This record gives sequence, structure tokens and C-alpha cells, in this order.
Amino acid sequence: MLSVQDLDLADKAVFLRVDFNVPLDERRNIRNDARIRAALPTLGYLLDRGARVFVASHLGRPKGRRLPEFSLKPVADRLSELIPQPVGFALDCIGEDVERMEVALPPAQVLVLENLRFHAQEEANDAEFARSLVRRADFYVNDAFGACHRAHASVEAVTRFVKAAAAGFLVEKEVDYLNRVVRDPEKPFAAILGGAKVSDKIPVIRNLIRKADDILIGGAMAYTFFAAQGLDTGRSLVEREKTDLAAELLRQAETAGVNFYLPQDHVVAESAEADAAEVISSFPIPAGRMALDIGPATVDTYRKVIQHARTIFWNGPMGVFEADPFASGTDAVALAVAGSTALSIVGGGDSVAALYKAGVQDKISHISTGGGASLEYVANETLPGIQALAEKLK
Ligand code: 3PG
Repeated sequence: MLSVQDLDLADKAVFLRVDFNVPLDERRNIRNDARIRAALPTLGYLLDRGARVFVASHLGRPKGRRLPEFSLKPVADRLSELIPQPVGFALDCIGEDVERMEVALPPAQVLVLENLRFHAQEEANDAEFARSLVRRADFYVNDAFGACHRAHASVEAVTRFVKAAAAGFLVEKEVDYLNRVVRDPEKPFAAILGGAKVSDKIPVIRNLIRKADDILIGGAMAYTFFAAQGLDTGRSLVEREKTDLAAELLRQAETAGVNFYLPQDHVVAESAEADAAEVISSFPIPAGRMALDIGPATVDTYRKVIQHARTIFWNGPMGVFEADPFASGTDAVALAVAGSTALSIVGGGDSVAALYKAGVQDKISHISTGGGASLEYVANETLPGIQALAEKLK
């Protein structure tokens, strides 16, 4: 794919797709601006070369409705604190008023457009909507790594309606790191997967079985694998309709000679709200109890595997880590990954939050800005947004 560095930018108008889908609190204060900061190298590069930049993003899931709580205005305000140039804000992302503002924008200045998802055509990958987005732009630059797994109008269709479409520095960096996981990873390669649902992780597990030496499973998803083996998992969260698939994945891992680790002990309680928990190391999980974290013996095993790895990919918590009684497993994995000298890549809101909570975020080779996107990249080795940039070159 083309890089932003391949574009001749002087006096050109650039439609810059970013992922400014940041967490907001109930008063619409930004809780974490990492995604805004992650786009600054590309934005700064464009402005330094005199481009006029129209910045577009989605925020939340307003589903085609113009809902004020999903406005990008607070994000535009934060951006104006982070860059020296003034930051304009348009009340929509298409239409005559917006185009008037775009045409009037001086060189080396920024106009942030309102939430793309206020229009249902965005998620429908509508070609006419895509054409309207870039009517006043010469080039399209995609730096929205976190949204590259969505074949939406501003990610996919849009590339057909500009002279050139290129990747920004963040997209390039994310893809470079993830390629080191999926293409010839340095061995041993340990993949750590957690979270509630196996169903979200099936394609990634399938591909990792072909690539990884060790797959470490935590979180409620482990209990669908246990249920698939006929074990009594008590009240643990199990996706009953996925047990056949889980059994098939276990068989595939065995055939491939991959070490597929499931928890060997379990922190159990009556519910995630309980303030007391106990550790059990064999099945059945007592009636009325559910597993909410990996136990200390599992932590020991997982820590050793992580220590030996040369490549680590981690996505998903080991338990209900927001609640203190069930946080130890995820905290221990965060510390073990941070303590490793391997190439380490972490994606997913919860795993990243665990790194910040432990204060070890600087000890990771690469923290992805896209939880879903990084997972899908590891599963499919490309993404719709990346594919669209590559197609444009053909
Ligand atoms: C994310 O937060 O993962 C991206 O911004 C994509 O958002 P979405 O899951 O609402 O498409």
C-alpha cells in the first residue's frame, strides 16, 4: 500500500480517517486520549507539508442517528490542546455547509468533521456517501487502525473516489508489528487469549494454531472448552452452542502439536459481585459457583511459558479483573508480559487497562490502538481497510 510519505502534499486537501473513538465519562470528558495522540505523527506530517486536513472519525455506535452524546466536539477540543494550529469543527461530515468550510480552509489547518456514524450510510459502506465525504479532497489517508476491520464507507468505499489513498504512520506501525506476529514469528511464540466469549476468538485461535507454540487461555471462554470435554462447570459462563467448535479447536491444536493451556485451578465465587472467593483445583465446580479468575497454580504455569517466549501476543483478561477478588490472574499476566524481553504486542481494552493499572505500559513492545482490529489482523492477516489501500494501487 501507499504511504503518506509517497504523497505530494503541498496545497493539497487530505481526508484523514482516524479512530478517535475514545472513552468518555457521563459528562463527556475524555477518559483516555491515547487514540488522539496516536494520530498526531500523521497529522503533524500533513500540516508541516502545507496540506489542508479534514479529520473524520466515528465515535460510539449512534446507528445513523444524530445523538449529541456521540458528538466529536469534545474530541476536537482536546485535539486543539494537543497541536499548535487552530482546530475548526464542522457540524456534519457531508453536505454543502461542510464543503464550504472545507474549501475555505487555509493550508496547514485542520477541520474536524462531525461523527461519521450519524449517517447510516457509513456502516452500510454506501458508495454515494463515500463519494460525498471526499468531494473536496485530493487524497485519502487512513490512520484509523482501530476501525480498519470495519468495511465502512470512510474506510473501504472511499478509496475509490480519490486520486490516491495511503496509509498513515499509525496504520503502518500497527501492521508492521502485527506482521512480526503472523509472518515467521520468532520462536517460541506464546499467544494469550482471554475474555468472556470463545465465539469472538474462534478465527484467531484457528490461525494461531498454525503459528504459535503455546496458546494460553483464560477468562470465561476457558469454560466453554471445559464444557466441551464434558466437565461440570457449575454456573460458569459457557457458550453451550459453541462446545462442538471448542472441541474441534482442541483436536486441531493437538494434531498441530501446539501446547494448548487451560486453567488448572480456578478462583470461584457465587457471582462477580461477591467479595469473598475460593480457589479450587478440580472439577466439578461446586453448584451455585462460577469461575471468575485463573488460580495461582495456573498463574505459575502461564508465567513460565511467558518467560520463555520470544514473541508474545495478548488479547483479553484472565478473569473479571475490574473486581479486586478476581484481578490477580490478569495482573500477574500483565506483569509477566511486561517483564519479558520478547517482542510483546497487546491489544484489547481490558488487557491494555490492566497494563496501565500495573503501571507497566511502557514495558510492552507495542500496545495496539485497535482491540478488534488487531485480533482480526492476527486471524486473517489483512483487514478490509488495509485491503482497500492495497487494491487502490493495482
Ligand atoms: C473500536 O473501538 O474497537 C473501534 O473504534 C471500532 O469501533 P466499533 O467496534 O464500534 O466498530
